[in-house]
Amino acid sequence: MEKYLIIGGKKLFGEVKISPAKNACLPLIASTIMFSGEFLLQNAPKISDVIIMAKIVENLGGSFIFTDKGLLLKTFNINSYSPSKEICCKARASFFIAGALLSRFKRAIVPLPGGCNIGIRPVDVHIDAFNQLGVDCIMDKDYVKFDANKMKSGMVSLKYPSVGATVNAICACVGLMGESLISNCAKEPEIVDLCNFLNLCGAKISGIGTSLIKIEGIALNKSLKIVHRPIDDRIEAGTFIFATAVTGGEIAFKYDNVCNICSAIKTIEKMGVQTRYEKNTLYVKSKGELDATQQVADVFPAFPTDLQSPLCSVCAYANGESVIEDRVFKDRFAFVKQLNDFGVNARVLGSQAVIKGSKINNPCTEKALDLRAGAGLVIYALGAQGESQIFGVDIIRRGYENLEQKLRLLGADIQYILS
Ligand code: EPZ
Repeated sequence: MEKYLIIGGKKLFGEVKISPAKNACLPLIASTIMFSGEFLLQNAPKISDVIIMAKIVENLGGSFIFTDKGLLLKTFNINSYSPSKEICCKARASFFIAGALLSRFKRAIVPLPGGCNIGIRPVDVHIDAFNQLGVDCIMDKDYVKFDANKMKSGMVSLKYPSVGATVNAICACVGLMGESLISNCAKEPEIVDLCNFLNLCGAKISGIGTSLIKIEGIALNKSLKIVHRPIDDRIEAGTFIFATAVTGGEIAFKYDNVCNICSAIKTIEKMGVQTRYEKNTLYVKSKGELDATQQVADVFPAFPTDLQSPLCSVCAYANGESVIEDRVFKDRFAFVKQLNDFGVNARVLGSQAVIKGSKINNPCTEKALDLRAGAGLVIYALGAQGESQIFGVDIIRRGYENLEQKLRLLGADIQYILS
């Protein structure tokens, strides 16, 4: 049984290294499937979600290796458009490979993503986008079978700015001769990074970072050799900012584009934390005195849903009553109920979480419900008076590289125990 043992109350001081973004790496890996070549994703975090996505490339006939420079993928020998269900069901992002498979093979058989603690993971926006491109999609309870022999370039309007559906629509259009326009796209920084990477691979994508992306299709017959550094992980950055808010102290980290974490910075400043950004470094200073907040999580550039659970832990220490809403995953409040179960005054009222904070909180012995709820538990435990035990470390490690080592270097009393 794996667990973290955390003795709370230690302030955090020093510099931390933010890893390249998990949620940038997963679409990048998926997109390499459409090309024949080798791709180095520099410093890609060696975390299970990234490894699973690379294993899908391998399962299709490609190969991968983690070197001291990062994740090296080779896709010359990809010869299948039907990845194994056993591998795909381990990561919901496996569905992101559909578009790239259609660009390469004009066919695909992709397992449906499983559900999880943050809600069911429908794919209707993906299917609707593919239908608009003329792709036949036949869904049964486990798979979607795609036939893109009649696929043609043109207009695609996403029903919702879904990150994954945007990835799939873009990847399907890159290898589609003619001009395609995708409207109501997700504008998340990870989509921007994907488009920049695809242009590095020879794609012709414009409107990057906007909700209207234009793609001029290209022939995918060139052999490529590409090196790309994925953007920094804005959710990991936010997690460390929130941890420092709770413990008090002063940390700093290099960060490539502060605009990508503006909403989290504004939120924590409103709660009483000081930040400063200069020479590509963000400085965060907290006295550990926090004011309650009202926050709505929504699509970029709004406050990100993936920091909603971590923010709830900050609110558990804030003076006053905080109100949080999540417009992306409307019932992503399992963690709020967990907080309440172990003594925090936290409840879900309709579509909002209401958390009445307290300067002093007791430690907890809990299991991570999902990746970001697990991060929320770690943040909570860092501020609690005493020793907390957090189980489900493997769930947390899916999305955070060397979390306990990074926190220990900052002065946290956190140990990984395998019993
Ligand atoms: C990506 O998931 C991220 N995952 C998620 O991060 C993140 O929470 C989410 O975007 C929102 O920002 C990766 O990038 C690997 P969506 P994705 O499609 O693409 C609904 C983490 O912790 N929807 O933008 O699956 C959906 O139910 C993970 O790192 C449909 O209804 O998210 C949700 O309510 C968790 N039909 C909303 O849209 C669809 O076809 C946003 O989903 C697709 C989505």
